[in-house]
Amino acid sequence: MSLLQKTIRADVQATQAYVVAPSAGMLKLDAMENPQGMPAALLDELAQALKAAELNRYPAPKALELETALRACTAIPKAAHVLFGNGSDELIDLIIRACCMPGDVVMSPVPTFVMYAVYSQWSHARFVGVDLNPDFSLNMPAMLKAISANQPKVVFLAYPNNPTGVALREAEIVQIIEATPGLVVVDEAYEAFADASFMARVLEFSNVLVLRTFSKLGLAGARLGYAVASPAWVEQIDKVRPPYNVNVLTRIAVQFALEHFDAFNAQAKLLRDQRSVLTAALKTLRTPNGDVEVFDSYANFVLFRMPDALEVFEALKNKGILVKYVGKGHPLLQNCLRVTVSTETENQQFLKAVQQSIDEVASKAA
Ligand SMILES: Cc1ncc(COP(=O)(O)O)c(C=O)c1O
Repeated sequence: MSLLQKTIRADVQATQAYVVAPSAGMLKLDAMENPQGMPAALLDELAQALKAAELNRYPAPKALELETALRACTAIPKAAHVLFGNGSDELIDLIIRACCMPGDVVMSPVPTFVMYAVYSQWSHARFVGVDLNPDFSLNMPAMLKAISANQPKVVFLAYPNNPTGVALREAEIVQIIEATPGLVVVDEAYEAFADASFMARVLEFSNVLVLRTFSKLGLAGARLGYAVASPAWVEQIDKVRPPYNVNVLTRIAVQFALEHFDAFNAQAKLLRDQRSVLTAALKTLRTPNGDVEVFDSYANFVLFRMPDALEVFEALKNKGILVKYVGKGHPLLQNCLRVTVSTETENQQFLKAVQQSIDEVASKAA
């Protein structure tokens, strides 16, 4: 056994690093990014704003101007506090680290966003997934039973859920909050597309935190997420945050975006409209081996199931179109693909390519 093998944790050695599929030159519909980019006029202004960045200095301890801009655009309850993270990914990690000792339980309905389980593992917490129903609705009796049996320190509820696109009912969230002995994180990464939010109620309970991100709105490259909770929760979680975790360029860029938030909201509206068109078109697809099952989505992606999904995924890739094959993630996701909602032109390009891919796969099998 080498020195490295003796030194690096066995579970780290046994794990693969997070895989980001190569996408150079491809139509990238795999990662829920906003395809629209910042309007050109705004980009010029942003470049000016970034000139003010003092790159020779560490960021100020609190991103106060950013927070003021955020509160002006978002209905964050006045008495709630905000904690910024390097993406909401980082905040998920910090929440688990602040709450869990080795062996403590983190819980979530599954399938869901994979990083809840990954960060649990790195904190030596035990991730307990509670299977959703086959239509991806919540299995409430199973959830309540699992909460009672495992007494989780943290429950993550992706609202709406990734990769299913399904949203819990608000009453279900409340029931889980009331049953949970620890913290319930309502992860609203896709809030801009959902017409639903728990934000207004974040202080109504003693154990709720709402998580958001700018990634899906068009700022995935800036890496900024934020947590909203009562001051006491934020004060504790802040203790495990690395100093200076949000860099000065990100602060300026996102503050700028917030000052021009109408442009981002308009882009989100376009994607919501396109989601209906894309969903309807996917529902009309037929394959020789069976129908395509499409799950109505509250997010900026659509999950669908079809026979030979892996083959269709590969055929799409050969045509330069990258979607996400999620079939390996969980037994309930068998034969499922997830596609990001894009512009009208790109969606049409994708739809045409799916039909061609279905036909190709069928003719190969014949
Ligand atoms: C439910 C959910 N939460 C959080 C994230 C992480 O977002 P980010 O780290 O880009 O803020 C994602 C990303 O896909 C997600 O699907």
